Amino acid sequence: MDTLQVKVWRGRTDGELVAYEVPRHESQTVLDVVTYIQRHLQPDLAYRFACRVGMCGSCAMNVNGKARWTCRTHVAKVAAGNQLEIAPLSNLPVIKDLVTDMSRFFDKWVQAKGQFSGERTRRDDFARVQPDSPRRQAADAGIECIGCGVCYSSCDVVTWRPDYLGPAALNRAWTLVNDERDSKRAERLRAVAGDAGCHSCHTQATCTERCPKHISPTAGIAGLKRMTMKAALEGEL
Ligand code: SF4
Ligand code: SF4
Ligand code: FES
Repeated sequence: MDTLQVKVWRGRTDGELVAYEVPRHESQTVLDVVTYIQRHLQPDLAYRFACRVGMCGSCAMNVNGKARWTCRTHVAKVAAGNQLEIAPLSNLPVIKDLVTDMSRFFDKWVQAKGQFSGERTRRDDFARVQPDSPRRQAADAGIECIGCGVCYSSCDVVTWRPDYLGPAALNRAWTLVNDERDSKRAERLRAVAGDAGCHSCHTQATCTERCPKHISPTAGIAGLKRMTMKAALEGEL
């Protein structure tokens, strides 16, 4: 039987890679490999997943040096020969083994005012947003984010300046400033216009290249740059 030589991160930030041999199968995913190790070789291995179908965003890890969602990543696509190296996401504190603390990542969504804030009550009629309006289309392009952290882990600016809001939080802000029903546009633009906001992005698009949902945070951030500049010139900020 074919085997995979797999190195997996064990411990916290000062941990180390530990080697395992895992039977290779057709259509095997990286998450299948981690699960095999935990069930058969290393019962105390810590990792995180929930849906296994690319919806929950909890299974992201670094695989052979690149952040990926592991439940939808086939070994055949990413293994270097029969070698796999699996490590926790970068730019986040490691709790144990493959599990990172995502608090900082989601705190930044709050800092970027990533919550919808409407004015209508349940007694008002539904808002009617034209599907082909430019703002609706801009929001639609970023709305399928599953909060996996792949983009955040891949962003060099987050590594250089840990207070940078990062691609996912800024993408979320972009979807909301384009939501015609939202009532906090100016506050949200103020929240993302600061030093740690959209203007720190270097636009090299690693986030966009890696996003498993084919979202382009880079495009959304470029939109925020334009929108904040215009708002500043018009005295809105
Ligand atoms: S933008 Fe893409 S990579 Fe970033 S958290 Fe959302 S789904 Fe994941
Ligand atoms: S394009 Fe901007 S947000 Fe995306 S990885 Fe580069 S610096 Fe980070
Ligand atoms: S386990 Fe839910 S996205 Fe991978």
